[in-house]
Amino acid sequence: MKTIVAATKNKHKIVEIEAITSQFGMNIIPRDEAGVPDVEIPETGKTFEENSYIKAYEIMKLSGQITIADDSGLVVDCIDGAPGVYSARFATFPGIWPDENDEGEEDSDDRDNNSKLLRLIKDFPYEERTARFVSVITMVFPDGKTIAARGTVEGHLVLEERGGGGFGYDPIFIPLGYDKTFGELPAELKNSISHRANALKMLKEKLENITID
Ligand code: IMP
Repeated sequence: MKTIVAATKNKHKIVEIEAITSQFGMNIIPRDEAGVPDVEIPETGKTFEENSYIKAYEIMKLSGQITIADDSGLVVDCIDGAPGVYSARFATFPGIWPDENDEGEEDSDDRDNNSKLLRLIKDFPYEERTARFVSVITMVFPDGKTIAARGTVEGHLVLEERGGGGFGYDPIFIPLGYDKTFGELPAELKNSISHRANALKMLKEKLENITID
């Protein structure tokens, strides 16, 4: 398998993508190692699919190599699917679920995002605090060929952060069938059942059915 450039700068995502794709025999390299300049790719899409494609396509153009992108986030049912595609910038995004932290479109840090989310869901009972992580992985080839795959993992949210593993919303998310958060569960377990793992498994199946030049 050829070398594949990861469009993301998120180190946590790269570690997880590598842990999963190494089992498929894919060689993932960070975008800076592929000579991609340190530019921000604006995520202007309204869906995970659109943003995942935008990132993969723009970085493929800059690297000239096969590129893989993940666009992901947490969808919480009791607050109409928020934060969704705004997961990374939830605490700072103006106009949606505004609160005193709203100040711009920059990514916010995990702690601010989690505390904003916890404030919004604190009055809902556990049974109503259902949520899912979504990951859309897109692979774009230099000839423009594109393959995309969506993976999800269902679960419930708890009202206090638990565990120091993972990143983002992991400390408040309990996957269905477990009693620990992604922050508490071992990384190997998360990487076998996560939204990202499910998307990458589906991507692998799709790759097995096409010819790569
Ligand atoms: P993106 O980089 O625009 O795709 O934003 C992804 C955001 O969704 C991250 O910054 C996290 O807030 C959240 N997220 C995505 N995947 C995970 C995960 O596996 N665990 C926890 N949070 C995640």
